[in-house]
Amino acid sequence: MGDNAASPARGSMVRVQIDGDNIEPEASEEFVLTPYVEALTQRAMAYLEAGYPVHFAGQAGTGKTTLAFHVAAKLGRPVSLIHGDDEFGSSDLVGRDAGYRKYRLIDNFIHSVLKTEEEVKTLWVDNRLTTACENGYTLIYDEFTRSRPEANNALLSILSEKILNLPKLRRTGEGYLEVHPHFRAIFTSNPEEYAGVHKTQDALMDRLITIRLGHFDRDTEVRITMAKSGVTEAAAQTIVDIVRALRDVGVKNQRPTIRASIAIARILASNGARPRSNDPVFQWVCQDVLASIETAKVTRAGASLMPQRVQEVIEKICGSPRTRRNATGRSARQANGENTCGHVFGASPERG
Ligand SMILES: Nc1ncnc2c1ncn2[C@@H]1O[C@H](COP(=O)(O)OP(=O)(O)O)[C@@H](O)[C@H]1O
Ligand SMILES: [Mg+2]
Repeated sequence: MGDNAASPARGSMVRVQIDGDNIEPEASEEFVLTPYVEALTQRAMAYLEAGYPVHFAGQAGTGKTTLAFHVAAKLGRPVSLIHGDDEFGSSDLVGRDAGYRKYRLIDNFIHSVLKTEEEVKTLWVDNRLTTACENGYTLIYDEFTRSRPEANNALLSILSEKILNLPKLRRTGEGYLEVHPHFRAIFTSNPEEYAGVHKTQDALMDRLITIRLGHFDRDTEVRITMAKSGVTEAAAQTIVDIVRALRDVGVKNQRPTIRASIAIARILASNGARPRSNDPVFQWVCQDVLASIETAKVTRAGASLMPQRVQEVIEKICGSPRTRRNATGRSARQANGENTCGHVFGASPERG
């Protein structure tokens, strides 16, 4: 279970310390706090402090998981992390009967007699939700709609009656557990992803305060791209503008997100390339990261128009390779005194 706790934290912007099965989030210098992020944090904190569970809902790449960690860190309690999973049963959430343990007792003091005793014991393995309720931790339930609704039933009484009903399987102890007053819950989900796959989780949704997240504002995207790659502001702006221009072209869950901006920026930084229409690395990285995105725009033969669209957007934002340079050899934009996509690297090194 501990490995499960570690994985998403690596990708998130809140550094974590893994303590057994629980996580102690810490602020990271890569975390970007713009007015947009701050306002969302403030809203979520207001609900959580009043005792309500919060749910960040939005498409992939809208910062749900990162924000959940950030808010959890602000609450200052250890964090129990659960990922939604189709395979989950309710016993996975609250704990399960781990069966029987056989053990042999070897009495070393009586050499002649090897005393063997077998004891059959029922073990109860508490799971993260139980631990969080019992100790007053903050639960992050990431992508909770990936689990089947019946697997999430235990949460209903936790959130409304502040009681966790334990299955009969837990043979020792009581059949229920009172939820610790410090227990708080933060959920995330992507409404597009599981629409139609599972029944709706209306009963649970009804108990959460849902904050809908869209894509970040431009300034936040630029700052995140800079923080996670080390490129300059001008370079990050160019990359972010290209990605944002293509967002309308993608369909369904296939819009380029902040992850595309981060990937392009990191690859440019590690290759010493620049976001210019005549830079070959920039050309292929943009095509590889962006052109595979599904679009409704196709040729008569049914081929995707995305590669062409990517090229058009690059030229619109960076200038076409042919028109970039005037007679003096300076780019047209430099001659006009405009901010160019020229110097890519800031003082900060690339960060992983
Ligand atoms: N406030 C932030 N500061 C720095 N990086 C961020 C911030 N919010 C999101 N990111 C980065 O943006 C990307 C998408 O964020 P993530 O939380 O994984 O989105 P989601 O969970 O909605 O898919 C990740 O690479 C994440 O590290
Ligand atoms: Mg996520």
